Formats: sequence, C-alpha cells, structure tokens
Amino acid sequence: MGKDVIVACDFSSKADVMAFLDRFSSRKPFVKIGMELFYAEGAEIVREIKARGHKIFLDLKLCDIPNTVKKSMHVLSGLDVDMCNLHAFGTKAMMDAAMEGLTREDGTRPMLIAVTQLTSTSEERMKSDLLINEPLEKVVMHYAKCAAQCGLDGVVCSPLEARNVKVVCGEGFMTVTPGVRFADDDVGDQVRITTPAKAKELGSDYIVVGRPITQAADPVAAYERCIREFVD
Ligand code: C5P
Repeated sequence: MGKDVIVACDFSSKADVMAFLDRFSSRKPFVKIGMELFYAEGAEIVREIKARGHKIFLDLKLCDIPNTVKKSMHVLSGLDVDMCNLHAFGTKAMMDAAMEGLTREDGTRPMLIAVTQLTSTSEERMKSDLLINEPLEKVVMHYAKCAAQCGLDGVVCSPLEARNVKVVCGEGFMTVTPGVRFADDDVGDQVRITTPAKAKELGSDYIVVGRPITQAADPVAAYERCIREFVD
C-alpha cells in the first residue's frame, strides 16, 4: 500500500479550488473533495478534477438508512472516484448495504472507508453529547472492527489510533488520518492531532491535510513538506 498525502480541498467554489490546484505544476496531489465543495458545485466538480489527473477521495460521510445509503453509493460509484466514506455509526447493516451499492457490475468499486469518531471529538464530548460511556479508544476500535467485518478497506481515524487499528483489524486494513498539523501550526478545531512525521511513525497509510496546506503562505511548499515528512 503506497503512503500518500491527501489534500483536503475545503473550498466553496470551483474558481477557488482550481486556482489552488493550478499552483501545483509538477505534482498532482491526491485531492479530498468534502461537503463544502460538493454542495457548492455538485458532481461536475468531481469529474473536472478527475479529468485533470488527480486521484479523488470524495468525503461525504454518508449516514442514513441502509436502502438510501446503498442507492447513494451506487450513484457515487458511477463518478469514478478512488475513495469514498461513511459513518460507522450507521451500523453494520448500513455498511453492508453501502458495499453492495458501491460495487459495480464488473466487481470493481472505489475504496470505502468508515469514519470512526471525528478527530474533532474529545472523549468528554463523546460522553456528554453522545452518551457513549466507553473510552474513546475502545469505541474507535469497535467501529473499526465492524467496518472490517463488513469488508470495508479501512477507517478514518486519528493518527494516534492508527497503530491499534492495525493490531485489531490487520496490517492490510487502511488507516486514513486527518488531524495533522506541523509542529509550528495552529491547532484550530482539531483535538486528536499529530505532525506528518509522527503519523508516519504511527503507521498511517494516508494523511489528510487541509488548512496547514490550503491556508499556508506557500501551499506547494507546505505540501512538499508533508510529502518529505510523511512519504519520503
Ligand atoms: O483543515 P484540516 O487539516 O483540519 O482538515 C481536515 C479534513 O479532514 C477536513 O476536510 C475534515 O472534514 C476531514 N475529517 C476530519 N476528521 C474526520 C474525518 C474527516 O477532520 N474524522
């Protein structure tokens, strides 16, 4: 499995995301399209970025009744994205339905990964707001195990949880980890965070990096720094 840096393109217009991607001349970063850009520009933005030669992680975090998720995943599989996701919180019935919907007639499908607990969620909040009274780590591992049982390819989790996910679900089970900051960065609203170098040490397969790259004075240099710390 190739390690890579996925750039979270959290922009609200096509003009902004294209201006951002135009800055990258030599490399074609793996791009994450999230709700903000997708809701603003629709499916066409996925096709356009794909046509420019980028791999795409479509981060729409589906969570609904199994039938709705199955049908929605079927639509997403037609978009030719490389990776998409859902909330493991939606249950194994929902994850089974998602796998069914995502798989094309020829048996191929984009990678499917499950969000365990958002990296902005602390254990205190999980307890007070979600009434989940287990330790956060235990919840993440349980959700990861459920995702693996449903045949998903991996989970989104904090880099701090990546090593244990591999212990519980196997080395081949992917960990895609947001919550990455350079040592000298602002933390923002993220809680369970590490640096790219630390994420590598902890065994993440992909790091998802948004603001440390998109808001940097020199985004290409920030991206290259991530590649140096995480991949090279
Ligand atoms: O700007 P920042 O590096 O915090 O961006 C992280 C990205 O990863 C955002 O697009 C956010 O939606 C996404 N994400 C996350 N935590 C998860 C799943 C996705 O931060 N558990």
